[in-house]
Amino acid sequence: MSQLDLNYVRRQFPALTDDVVFLDNAGGSQVAKPVIDRINDFMLSANVQLGATYGASVSAARKVAEGRAALARLLNADRAEEVVMGATATQLFGQLAQALVQHWEPGDEIIVSNFDHEANIGPWRLLEQRGIVVKTWELPEGEHKPGPDSLAPLLGPRTRLVAMTHCSNIFGSINDVRAIADLVHDHGAMVCVDGVAFAPHRAIDVKALDADFYGFSVYKTYGPHHAALYGKFDLLRHKAGNINHYFYGEDRVPNKLEPGNPNYELAHSCVGVIEYLEGLAAAHGINAKGRAAVEAAFDMIADYEAELSERLLAYLRSREDVTIVGDPSSDRDARVPTISFVIAGQSSRETVESVDTSGIGIRFGDFHSKRLVQALDLGDPDGVIRVSAVHYNSIEEMDRLIEQFESLREKAA
Ligand SMILES: Cc1ncc(COP(=O)(O)O)c(C=O)c1O
Repeated sequence: MSQLDLNYVRRQFPALTDDVVFLDNAGGSQVAKPVIDRINDFMLSANVQLGATYGASVSAARKVAEGRAALARLLNADRAEEVVMGATATQLFGQLAQALVQHWEPGDEIIVSNFDHEANIGPWRLLEQRGIVVKTWELPEGEHKPGPDSLAPLLGPRTRLVAMTHCSNIFGSINDVRAIADLVHDHGAMVCVDGVAFAPHRAIDVKALDADFYGFSVYKTYGPHHAALYGKFDLLRHKAGNINHYFYGEDRVPNKLEPGNPNYELAHSCVGVIEYLEGLAAAHGINAKGRAAVEAAFDMIADYEAELSERLLAYLRSREDVTIVGDPSSDRDARVPTISFVIAGQSSRETVESVDTSGIGIRFGDFHSKRLVQALDLGDPDGVIRVSAVHYNSIEEMDRLIEQFESLREKAA
């Protein structure tokens, strides 16, 4: 049994009540109280333009820098300059693509998958217009965790970058980024990892993964509607061009990748995500700060999430008419509690719309992993049903959802 004190956890999220069950967290999570406090604090005491010499401007710059440093801690980056901030992960991958292509030649190659969220596919595919050759890494039949074997034949001397995901937002499976990064690096290329579906569930460690670039959305990770993109300092400096004003030099890392400045109050409020994780660790008797708290908190979260996953997966496995789209096991090393499935003979849309009436928010569709859902040919135009939990969800909430599925089954019989 996990030791997570759920009452403590839920109290830290003011939006959580007993009336509404949020099980669409892979779409966006609720916001931790310290994050809300930080937004208020910035708006009330520091809302001026950065870069001037007067006190309020200096203080505002310090607060934004604290937010960037907090994101570096979440990513385990060595330096805050390795964190590019922006509105969404999709935008940041697009900005990165436009910056990197400045150093590439027509005929250079990049590899994108057909099994990931479009955020880390589409922006790279656009580079075809610049003469870049885009190869597609196809999902091998029957797999939901594609590894180096299926990627290797696509790599060649002109490969510049491979775009991949850390965790599928449909399968919920955690991919072996390190093994893929090692292979890609052996070919002299770079890897850009989409960590959006991973970040709410486990501690990211860009150093252990040896990721060259790694993006995630803070709004799915208990924070504000904001996003971060890590890049190795030397790569940001020497391999990425300037997409900001012409007078920002190549050495202006990371600002040359942040046209128009990031949102200040949201950037600052990222400090609140770390404060939440520190509080969570402390509430469980672990006296850790900063990165150590991130790791301790996510370790507890992973154990608890495996219990949540198991509750739903055991039910789904028991139903002969259900196909789980992804790993049927709840192993914390294999998956996160983002669970997709289809029910034979039932429309995903109708199932979800029936559940809607009970005050439980789940979702159907392709979740912008359109190429994957098409490749899987699930036979339902409405895609999969997806239940995406995070650690503030309770076992009782899962049971409420299972009751709904059961009563729909009885009605359909
Ligand atoms: C795996 C994955 N990548 C990227 C995104 C897009 O994130 P953003 O809204 O920050 O662009 C999502 C959003 O659902 C996602 O699930």
